[in-house]
Formats: sequence, C-alpha cells, structure tokens
Amino acid sequence: MNKGHPAAAITGLGIYLPAKILSNHDLEKMVDTSDEWIKQRTGISQRRIAESHETTFTMAYEAGKNALKMAKLRPEEIDLVICATLIPEHPFPSTASLVQAALGATKAGAFDLEAACAGFVYALGVARAFIHSGMARVVLVIGSETMSRVVDWEDRSTCVLFGDGAGAAIVQASFDEKAGAILEVALKSDGSKADCLIIPAGGSRYPTTENTVRDKLHFLRMNGAEVFKAAVRAMADTTLEALKHSDLQLSDLNLMIAHQANSRIIDAVQKRLELPDGISYQNLERYGNTSSASIPLALYDAMQEGRLKQGMYLAVAGFGGGFSWGATIIKWGLNPEN
Ligand code: ACO
Repeated sequence: MNKGHPAAAITGLGIYLPAKILSNHDLEKMVDTSDEWIKQRTGISQRRIAESHETTFTMAYEAGKNALKMAKLRPEEIDLVICATLIPEHPFPSTASLVQAALGATKAGAFDLEAACAGFVYALGVARAFIHSGMARVVLVIGSETMSRVVDWEDRSTCVLFGDGAGAAIVQASFDEKAGAILEVALKSDGSKADCLIIPAGGSRYPTTENTVRDKLHFLRMNGAEVFKAAVRAMADTTLEALKHSDLQLSDLNLMIAHQANSRIIDAVQKRLELPDGISYQNLERYGNTSSASIPLALYDAMQEGRLKQGMYLAVAGFGGGFSWGATIIKWGLNPEN
C-alpha cells in the first residue's frame, strides 16, 4: 500500500453545526415555495443557519479542535492547516491562518483552498501529496462555509438549497495498515462553465461598489439544470478513474459519499455507476448543501451511525463551481471508540 512512503490516514474527524435550524416550513413564509417542492426536488428538509457570532473561521476552528481531539494530537503537532472554503472570513488573510493561531498550532503552515463544493476533496488530495512527499506528517483539513451570507434570500431557486457548517479531518502519516489510507485522488476542472455557478462581484473583476450591491452581484448565482447534468457525469467518471488507479473495482466499495447537494443527483450518480441500492450515504435532509463542509459532515455522521467501519473501502466525490470536481478512494481506518 505504501510504496516506500507513509500512507495518508484519516485519524480524526470533527464537526461544528450552528444550533439555529431553518426548516422548509420556515422558508414557506419567506419565499414562494413549499416543503413538498423542496423535498421532492432536492431531498432537503432543513438546514443550519449561522448566527451573527458564527463565521467561517469560528466554525472551522471548532471543527478543527474536535478533529484534533479525536486524533489525540496536540496543536503543536500539526504541520499544515488547509481550509477549503468559498466564503472565507476575509478576502485575505486566509481563514486557515486564523485557525492556526486560535488552535495554537505554532509549527504549522496554513492556507485556504478554493474549489467551491469540491474543496474538501481537493484538500484531501493536497494533504495526501504533502504526506507522501515527506513535507508534512500531520495535516488539518477543514471545510467551512457560511452559505447563508452569500445566498439571495429573495431568490427561491437558490435560497432553499444551502446551509452553514464545518467539518474537519486530521490526515496523518502512518505505516500502520489498520489506520487506513487515502488511496487515490482524481481532480478535474472545466473553467469554461464558470458562469454556471458564480458569485460575480467582490473580487478584481467587479470590486464592491454601490452598483454591484444594488444589482445583487455579491450573491450566488446558479444555472441549476447545467450543474445537475454536469455533476452526475463528473462525479461518476472521476470515481471510476480513482478506483482504477487504486486497483479496485466498483464491487469492492462498501460506501459512497457524494457531495450532499441534491438527493436526485446522488441517486443518479449511484445509478450511472450501477451501484447497489443503499450504498450511497445521504444526510443532506438535515443540513442542505453546505458546499465544502458537506463531505466531512457526511463522513462524521456515517461513522457515528456505524455505516463506516475499519477496513471498508469508501468512494468520496465532490463537484462544484469552476466547474471543479474530484473523487478519492479511502480505505477507512478510523474507529472513534479506540
Ligand atoms: N419552490 C418552488 N418552485 C420553485 C423553486 C422553489 N424553491 N425553485 C424553482 N422553482 C420552480 C421554477 O421557477 C420552475 O418553475 P416554471 O416551470 O414555472 O418555470 C420549476 O420550479 C422547475 O424549476 P427547475 O429549475 O427546472 O427545477 P429542477 O427540477 O431542475 O430543480 C434544482 C432545481 C433543485 C436547483 C436542481 O436543478 C439542482 O439541484 N441543481 C444542482 C444544484 C447543485 O448541485 N448545486 C451544487 C453545487 S453548489 C456550489 O458549488 C456552491
């Protein structure tokens, strides 16, 4: 498994979810929608919404602290903090640097990674590469998003889809077979579709002005149908690619976690791959689409629910703005009771 270098094993997970719940029925009072429409078209029943004191940084910090605790590591043992986010605390400095300081990870480097909803899969790939190259032994990978701050609450076609939260994983160098490993990672992009999923303003193209605010250019815009089609094909194809590089077959998979955007997308990926029913994990009913936090939130819940056990083979696929997407095959080694 280790080809001379240590494996990159997930040895801790942590999450943070705001306490405030916004249900579909609450949304019925805000925009012209219905619980039935949202459930039928997306599978979502409720989502968490950050209060004013909860931000991308505070949630990332709490999730990171919890992952560190599960891994039984001290902050000084972290070599690198990567925070995947599309809504950082500030345009700069990085949210990861704020987390590094708050944790007291005094020996760590830190940077943010922006690959929209695919951010956590990308960050796992980076962590694995740092570990295989010997540049790091302990990497804290976080996905944290405050989607409620970039959603237009008057636009029913997007505001019903998203939620806030954070999840984190410790990725650690290991020669212990039982600790598991991130076996392979396949990452892809198609920037020609950038306009399909975009926050147009607030960057160098359209710096913030009264006009950009008036025209609502700081809110997320999405071509839902295009995203839907592309997401299914992309997540299925990269899963196959990552599996091939792992020398594994679809029949070896015990669980599949796809980005928790829409249950119809997840079902379509499962169908395209001809995976057996019940193999795809879903928790989006409770949290909505939390972008780069969706994968670690799903990993955590799947493990707590006993769906993810030591020795299992897991496929994880993400897709989001860019378009950017990717998949990774993981041999699971983490047992929270150890
Ligand atoms: N409530 C009621 N009706 C609605 C709502 C709503 N919240 N939103 C849209 N509608 C209406 C539309 O206006 C349309 O009405 P019309 O037929 O009278 O014009 C009708 O419902 C159908 O709309 P569609 O957009 O065709 O609905 P669709 O079945 O495609 O579902 C959805 C829309 C849920 C957005 C779907 O396209 C989707 O999930 N797309 C992918 C989203 C995604 O995965 N995003 C992930 C990446 S996010 C990231 O990277 C940040």
